[in-house]
Amino acid sequence: CGIIGYVGEEQARPRLVAGLQRLEYRGYDSAGIALADDELSVFKQSGLISDLDLPAETPQTCGIGHTRWSTHGKPTDANAHPHTDCSGRVAVVHNGIIANYDDLRSELPDHEFRSETDTEVVAHLVEEALEHTDDLRAAVEAVVERIEGSYALGVVAAGYDGIVAARRNSPLVVGHGTDGNFIASDVTPLLEHTRSVSYLEDGDVAHLTRSGVTVRHDGELVDREVTTIEWDADAAEKAGYDHYMLKEIHEQPTALRQAIAGRIDPIEGDVDLGDLSLSEAFLSDIDEVQFVACGTSYHACMYGKQLVEHLADVRATVEFASEYSVGSGRDPERTLVVGVSQSGETADTLRALRVAKRSGIRTLGVTNTVGSTMARECDDVVYIRAGPEIGVAATKTFASQVVILALFAVTVADERGELDPTAGRELLEHLQNLPGAVQGALDRDDAVEEVADAFADGDAFFFIGRRFGNPVALEGALKLKEISYDHAEGFPAGELKHGPLALVTEDTPVLALLTAGTRPDETRNNIKEVQSRGAPVVAFTAPDDDGDYEVGFDVPDLGLIEPLVANVYLQLFAYHVADDKGRSIDRPRNLAKSVTVE
Ligand code: G6P
Repeated sequence: CGIIGYVGEEQARPRLVAGLQRLEYRGYDSAGIALADDELSVFKQSGLISDLDLPAETPQTCGIGHTRWSTHGKPTDANAHPHTDCSGRVAVVHNGIIANYDDLRSELPDHEFRSETDTEVVAHLVEEALEHTDDLRAAVEAVVERIEGSYALGVVAAGYDGIVAARRNSPLVVGHGTDGNFIASDVTPLLEHTRSVSYLEDGDVAHLTRSGVTVRHDGELVDREVTTIEWDADAAEKAGYDHYMLKEIHEQPTALRQAIAGRIDPIEGDVDLGDLSLSEAFLSDIDEVQFVACGTSYHACMYGKQLVEHLADVRATVEFASEYSVGSGRDPERTLVVGVSQSGETADTLRALRVAKRSGIRTLGVTNTVGSTMARECDDVVYIRAGPEIGVAATKTFASQVVILALFAVTVADERGELDPTAGRELLEHLQNLPGAVQGALDRDDAVEEVADAFADGDAFFFIGRRFGNPVALEGALKLKEISYDHAEGFPAGELKHGPLALVTEDTPVLALLTAGTRPDETRNNIKEVQSRGAPVVAFTAPDDDGDYEVGFDVPDLGLIEPLVANVYLQLFAYHVADDKGRSIDRPRNLAKSVTVE
């Protein structure tokens, strides 16, 4: 989760420890450092940075450090970074997901692996590469060629001068100091030493020594511009954004790439969600999937329910976890309960899962938090790998949850022999294109801000959408009410005329989902109903939609998951309305990130 590295004139250890402390804000469950001179010394464990058992004397002037927030393997001492090879010569810290680590690991039958992490394979691969070269940089270059997925890597080795760093789809910044050079996952730990930084680009491999930094791309030396950071430490924790929530909204392309890394083969139309104990026999025989969750996760479940029903021809239901009971007429052996929770600690959701379990129903947990109670108690668990979410209002985790539920729906459909191969392949392709489409929406942040400024003073805000657009309409309303304290409600578009229409005036902006899979023709009728009462409409439409809306945003063709792109606009809208009103966006009144009471 957090990376720091230093090589220079001074002792590395105090710089690494202070750096890790500056990275604490990202959340972590384990920490460690590796110090390198002619030998390598590694200190790491689960728990606090201050708990690290460091010796009195540490003269080394080169090292790397890491705070881990588990995404792969529990928070144990063995799983903490840095990871080392068999010889104990090479140490690696890593952020991201090595998607093909299983395959790579099976290519190293003689290596003894000591952790459950995807990262460890990198240390072993570097060890192998060092058999053909003494140059750590060349070794790391050879290794990153073989890695699929995302990574920010810092590597040191005994007897080798400096740090080698590499990045793909996970941020890594180089700090140019007066007494040495640094790497870090963000600028926060660098600010007390230097404000001169350069950002590595995807595919870069950097070599840092005490006297300088060289960066190579495809083996060629390149220059990466050195910029001066003007932020203070507080702004730096938020990567220059004003709030964690905005930062997390902008992290969605990365989070989504991590969610699908190694889990999709679009050519074959295959999905691999890891070692689930849900057998083909069980999945093909179930007659109901029950989703349980709260808040934003509940909306992700509404989406998941529709995906499962659409693809797998099995009944799916979704219930508020606090209301869940097994219900009559269910055969526990033919039912699967899927609990979805960012934190994995929401008491209502845990209760529902326990109720199901007591009735003999098999449970699957979908969570962002490795080692959480949900992960421990469910029969099976799939991690969404969105990275830590600090803003109380969930943003990036919603999209990642839906993506995992889409992969789950494909899995169930496939096992049941119900998967239409074309539909399956199309969905997987769309999931792969989703991060880019989300980036496209994020790039329009200024336009969303203008719309939010124009409408922020509305009396109330209504969000409408049908089918796959419905959960997103509800989520859009929840986001706005959570952080702006405005009255906001989401409805299936057709329900508006059955009551809520009485509230519609020219002061109630209506945000409407009209993307292709949301039955837009019918929703257009509902739009006329509100427009004839003077309400302004902000519409999220297919690019070729030439309807008459006060404001329109295009959503690219992504089939069943188009509403996830519209959701990004809704998140930005909620953010800017709340920001205009000076609300406490990251910590809204009365709300908690994780509610551990029923
Ligand atoms: C709290 C938060 C919501 C969140 C809900 C479920 O109420 O304020 O933002 O959606 O819990 O959280 P979970 O961790 O289970 O997804």
